[in-house]
Amino acid sequence: MGVFILMKIAVSTQALDRQTAQVVAVTLTEGATLPAWSRGWPAAVRQAVERLVKAKDATGKLNELVAIPAPANLKAGWLYVVGIGKASELTADRLRQTAATAARRVQAQRRATLALQVGGVGLRGLTAEIAGQAVTEGVRLGTYKFTEFKSLKPEERTALGAVTLVVDRGVSSVALLTGVARGTVIAEAVAFSRNLINCPSNLKAPQAIAARVQAMARRAKITCRVYQKAALAKLKMNAILAVGQGSVRPPTFVVLDYTGPGAKAKTPLVLVGKGITFDSGGISIKPSEKMDQMKYDMSGGAAVAGALQAIAGLRLPVRVVGLIPFSENLPSGSAQRPGDIIRTYGGKTVEVLNTDAEGRLVLADALGYAQRYKPAAVIDLATLTGACVVALGQYASGLLGTHAGLTQRVREAAERTHERVWELPLWPEYSEHVKSDVADLKNIGDSGAGTITAAAFLKEFAGDVPWVHLDIAGVAWAEKDQAYLVKGGTGFGVRLLTELAASWKPLSASSKVAK
Ligand code: BES
Ligand code: MN
Ligand code: ZN
Repeated sequence: MGVFILMKIAVSTQALDRQTAQVVAVTLTEGATLPAWSRGWPAAVRQAVERLVKAKDATGKLNELVAIPAPANLKAGWLYVVGIGKASELTADRLRQTAATAARRVQAQRRATLALQVGGVGLRGLTAEIAGQAVTEGVRLGTYKFTEFKSLKPEERTALGAVTLVVDRGVSSVALLTGVARGTVIAEAVAFSRNLINCPSNLKAPQAIAARVQAMARRAKITCRVYQKAALAKLKMNAILAVGQGSVRPPTFVVLDYTGPGAKAKTPLVLVGKGITFDSGGISIKPSEKMDQMKYDMSGGAAVAGALQAIAGLRLPVRVVGLIPFSENLPSGSAQRPGDIIRTYGGKTVEVLNTDAEGRLVLADALGYAQRYKPAAVIDLATLTGACVVALGQYASGLLGTHAGLTQRVREAAERTHERVWELPLWPEYSEHVKSDVADLKNIGDSGAGTITAAAFLKEFAGDVPWVHLDIAGVAWAEKDQAYLVKGGTGFGVRLLTELAASWKPLSASSKVAK
């Protein structure tokens, strides 16, 4: 498990020269003048920052950090000046990023306490609650570390212990603290998700990881059922079984079911996550280079589990069901072969032309199962295609769907959380590319548009309910540290799905797009 959560976050309206933390941090906008929120700074801080700006030692560029010995009248030893970019471009995400940048440096310097001035409240729609949440997420996510398997010296274990968010007197501490509480619940859920993703595949067999999700559900008071191999056979979830049949470690299927206070339970929001605990490609084996990374092929499942933890933690008044098929894709004497035909849960048959296109197979069964709930909407998340990494890289997940209203909701939640999405077309023509000569469907497209043909395949199992698919192959894993994203599993989707659930209301029937 990562080092985390022990950190305390408090709010103070005392001036920066009254703060007793080892480090005081302020944010600086880009340009020649000090930011609007510098009015509350002690004169010595203003002068010190003005000097840095004049000498061009501090430019205010986003996430630039200049550390100087604190002016003599401060109790702190160090003053950090963190760039937040242009004042006209201020967003909650920039608060999230700068908070992470400051907190990470404090942690790297093995300092224990930080007083962070939260500037910008009241500007550009930033409420105290939004700011409190963003900064809390930034601090907690940015200082996340996956150290479970590291032999650390005691001094390497010490982590940032306490953060004080310093705001001007006019800002509501209560509202800010509400945001802090929200941000803490959400960041803990993201950390849970990251821990699952970063866990090596030898230690997260489908049964083992299902048990961890089940333990989380118990803690969070979410109803949880784990289907084992025999139950999957009974249910005729043959696609999940086929993908897992090459491994000695059998697949599982996790069903999470949360009903919040006052929720209308009849039409849940159903979240589906791809849970391939390791993707070697199977008989259609992948090249060995970077194959180790395929431990993150369960990131969709991890996002769904994390989102349910956050949604339950916030007691949101909605019903949300999470469906996660866990399976390990390995080659062996018992593995499925190219050319095999399987009958999926809903009855449609699939010709498996490439055993490395396994994600869509497990999702076919899970999406079919989702129909049982007569869902208000279905959203699936999956590290589904390398093509999506080529198309969009690490800054946006691919979005494809059948319902304009639901797509719009997801877009808005993505905007607010900065877990960004970009829509690709899902025109009927693409569906032709996944038709098989000998079965209803084949699991690879004819040529080109790999992300879209994968979604066109999934669409055949999504029924007539509003459905959105997020291809998170590019965003689920960070190649390097960047503000609140730490090298490794990002936990992408937890924040977006939680935001979507928090603002959930029934979709209007009219916005369905023609099939
Ligand atoms: N898990 C992979 C997709 C992936 C690739 C995720 C790289 C993250 C980084 C998926 O199961 C896969 O192997 N997809 C194939 C599909 C192809 C065989 C049609 C791919 O993208 O190459
Ligand atoms: Mn694969
Ligand atoms: Zn895969």
